Amino acid sequence: MVVPDNSNIVIFGASGDLTFRKLMPALYHLYASKQLPDCFFILGVSRSKYSDEQYRQKLVQSLGKGDRVDDSVLNQFIQHIYYVSIDTSSMPAYAELKSRLDALYTQYDTPHNTLFYLATPPSLFEVIPQCLAAHQLNNEAQGWKRIVLEKPIGYDLQSALDLDKSLHQFFDEQQIYRIDHYLGKETVQNLLVFRFANGMFEPLWTRNYIDYIEITGAEALGVEGRGGYYDGSGALRDMLQNHLLQVLAMMAMEPPVEINADSIRNEVAKVLKSLQPLSAEDVKNEVVLGQYTESEIQDELFLAYRNEAGVKADSRTETYIGMRLFINNWRWNGVPFYIRTGKRLPTRITEVVIHFHKTPHPVFGVDAPANKLVIRIQPDEGIVTNFVLKKPGAGFETKEVSMDFKYQYLESEEGEDKLLSAYERLLLDALNGDATLFARTDAVLSCWKFVQPILDYKHQSGSLYGYASGTWGPTQADELLAKDGRTWRRPCENLTNTNCTEL
Ligand code: BG6
Repeated sequence: MVVPDNSNIVIFGASGDLTFRKLMPALYHLYASKQLPDCFFILGVSRSKYSDEQYRQKLVQSLGKGDRVDDSVLNQFIQHIYYVSIDTSSMPAYAELKSRLDALYTQYDTPHNTLFYLATPPSLFEVIPQCLAAHQLNNEAQGWKRIVLEKPIGYDLQSALDLDKSLHQFFDEQQIYRIDHYLGKETVQNLLVFRFANGMFEPLWTRNYIDYIEITGAEALGVEGRGGYYDGSGALRDMLQNHLLQVLAMMAMEPPVEINADSIRNEVAKVLKSLQPLSAEDVKNEVVLGQYTESEIQDELFLAYRNEAGVKADSRTETYIGMRLFINNWRWNGVPFYIRTGKRLPTRITEVVIHFHKTPHPVFGVDAPANKLVIRIQPDEGIVTNFVLKKPGAGFETKEVSMDFKYQYLESEEGEDKLLSAYERLLLDALNGDATLFARTDAVLSCWKFVQPILDYKHQSGSLYGYASGTWGPTQADELLAKDGRTWRRPCENLTNTNCTEL
């Protein structure tokens, strides 16, 4: 890991949930493992009124509850933290931010290298860059300036295009870091290494050997107090348009020329641009939207989505989406990709399953199952492959067996401390100016372009099916695969088990 040059972080939305739950713990752990620069400050910005000291104490209370937190390191860490209260939607208020920043640059005697992290509601994504620019806070004369945004990067294709246009008025593309925390996951990055550091898989990674691919992003939890946000978003915007399409891109992209931001992001963009556009008819036939209904499992009552706090009683927001899509390029032409994600499914699993073609002829008399490769992104991270062997004894009776590798074996070799959480990795990369694991504008826009027909279908009140909490989604999603003579894998928390039905 490269320790960044002296640089500073300004967090907008400093009193919010993302800052306390994800950003500050990540920054603390980077500091504790000596991966932050020698000289840095963090300035929290939001509307709530705190003095520096009050804000530091709030952080101590919240970080102090975390694992692996050392009181004396925490005390040193908070000395680098400052706070300013302004109305972030008011342009004149940024004069106060500027004077606070100037004072800190002088006090720390650092270059003006600054990362502006927008941990705010998306309604401020256009406003904050504009206000920063109005006060020359995007000026790179005395040090680099970068902004970090998190999803939702737009709400649909048009709003994403508008946001893009607005951002590019004040920041160049290489100054903009769009976080997709899935790209920060070790096992998503491992997809690249697995594919491109092993000669044996790449030749098989084509329509010639692969029959179909499943990508699952399942969650057992419901909306967990985020009903207000989720009801305006749904599974399509919350998970599929970003996280799962990024996983698909890693899985389906061509080998990059080099391992650097441009080469990798060029290949990601190419594959996302090659997604076969969906006609209105395709959406009807190839996409299943579902919403969880009430269910009682082992004497525990799970609320229907419509009864969750913050959700409209007649909400038509999907908490499940399952679909079939194709990639129009030489490698993947004709190979179906089945993708699904949902809340209140039986277990929390993210995985990619590659189903190879069956043998052309059942030489042992029985139709042997096709080979399969399961790449588990979380939990029980690892890889398992299935193949057929001979049962001991007379004749040629066959049996399906498996071979697995668990990512945890590598963790213990490397030592737990060296493994970075997604936010630690992404913050460090942004400070180092490495955009490899951040979504580039063309990739984000291609994703929106691809899902826009599904959004249109939703707006026209397309079919929405109920599914009982704790099941694998609406039966219509099973029918989607059944039409092709296939079934979804029923994964379990433990990578090597199948047919998980427990919530
Ligand atoms: C977030 C979504 O981006 O990703 C959440 O807003 C979802 O709804 C979460 O639960 C899933 O992330 P992870 O890392 O737990 O798989």
